[in-house]
Amino acid sequence: MTQRTSKYIFANWKANKSLVEARNWAKTYQKIKKESSQTIAVFPSFPVLSSLLQEFPDLTWGAQDCSEYEAGAYTGEVPTQLLRSLGAKYVLLGHSERRKYQKETSVLVARKVELALAAELTPVICLDRDEFATQLNQLDKASIEKSIFAYEPVHAISSFGGHEDPLETTVQTIQQLREMAESNIAVLYGGSVDAENSFTYLSHKDIDGVLVGKSSLDPELFAKL
Ligand code: PGA
Repeated sequence: MTQRTSKYIFANWKANKSLVEARNWAKTYQKIKKESSQTIAVFPSFPVLSSLLQEFPDLTWGAQDCSEYEAGAYTGEVPTQLLRSLGAKYVLLGHSERRKYQKETSVLVARKVELALAAELTPVICLDRDEFATQLNQLDKASIEKSIFAYEPVHAISSFGGHEDPLETTVQTIQQLREMAESNIAVLYGGSVDAENSFTYLSHKDIDGVLVGKSSLDPELFAKL
């Protein structure tokens, strides 16, 4: 069962940052980050991830996606075993941008969840309200309980409009997800989280953390969350 004791602050860089920019981010962040009980992890693009994992082993890293196949003859794919062997800890799955642009379905996401867990990566399953039932139906209880969920209303994501949900709606929706999962799962909120509103989400007992896109790109802003 994924612990609900610590707050998670996850940085989703999406397809941003060259290797030079990413290294500068990590160097600056290492200097300014404060001691904290929060679990902080950064999700860069694949090529940047593999360099940063080696150069900055004191930070925690995750991938933005993984292959639906195990290692083998699958040109262009990045299998979970490889990510794990490099030192990644988490993998984002089913992000709304992948569901939209790559037409990823809940069935596909579930397959990736199984492979991630088999490789001892923690899946961070991203989903909007209308995907709760279909996504949960594809997962068995053990997989649900070993994953972290990120409730991300599409309209709240900065690239899709950026209208963040009121706290009350977010909390009610997260409670619905826990009820549907029939388990006390860890659920983060994502969508236009920034240094101004993060405290509201992070201080609420029913929200286990935040998944941050745009406001994670600047290390100084990210460190203020
Ligand atoms: P945003 O992105 O913080 O830029 O809205 C969040 C996400 O897409 O995970």
